[in-house]
Amino acid sequence: MLSTVALFRQRAETYVSRVSLRPVIPKASAHLRPATEHDVGFVTDVYVVTLRAQGRLARDFDEGAFRDRFVAQTFREVEGDVPDSTTYVIEIDGERAGRLRVVRGPDSLEIAGIQLLPAHQGKGNGTYLIEQLVVEAHDAGKPARVRAGRDNPRALGLYRRLGFTEVGTDDDEIILESAPRTQADGTEAEASFSRGP
Ligand SMILES: CC(C)(COP(=O)(O)OP(=O)(O)OC[C@H]1O[C@@H](n2cnc3c(N)ncnc32)[C@H](O)[C@@H]1OP(=O)(O)O)[C@@H](O)C(=O)NCCC(=O)NCCS
Repeated sequence: MLSTVALFRQRAETYVSRVSLRPVIPKASAHLRPATEHDVGFVTDVYVVTLRAQGRLARDFDEGAFRDRFVAQTFREVEGDVPDSTTYVIEIDGERAGRLRVVRGPDSLEIAGIQLLPAHQGKGNGTYLIEQLVVEAHDAGKPARVRAGRDNPRALGLYRRLGFTEVGTDDDEIILESAPRTQADGTEAEASFSRGP
């Protein structure tokens, strides 16, 4: 069976061959742009706000100290001082809506953090962005990896629905991976996603 991505590509190609309009492809409102130093405060807010909304902050959470560390680390990321790492602002309808960090290493593409502000959650944008990253990883012949907290069952459920499987654990986190499938002829198969109901 053709994957969703292959179906859209096929449909787009068919459409282009018949008419000269742009192909019909899924339109997601989410847009990524690399974060700059002007976004450091915003991405820090997103991180803290989403954790708080999930009820995942420890009772003795020291927000000031945490923010100081997070801001310093994010500055290093946006200034290019962290190898292979890109921090993005997720924009939805032109507004800043979330944070995404991707580490494109030699052997894997790691989704090293994705947070959408609560008002933007549950509308398909996370699925769309994660799927794009999985396709990018598989096209490069690499697995996509992600870590999710054991205390974050909804995120774990999302990754599992998108075809990620558990490959390890690390303290309070589960490491999941979506490996490129190798076909009988040795070439990489198209990424596919198994969606839940
Ligand atoms: C996880 C997240 C990026 C998914 O993006 P999204 O656009 O909300 O997700 P989609 O609408 O594409 O898909 C819905 C699924 O996302 C997951 N999800 C939705 N809200 C969530 C939340 N607050 N926390 C964790 N997962 C959530 C669930 O699996 C949901 O399916 P369900 O309703 O059947 O449980 C986003 O919800 C988020 O930022 N959550 C808070 C931060 C977080 O947990 N990040 C993941 C760290 S590994």
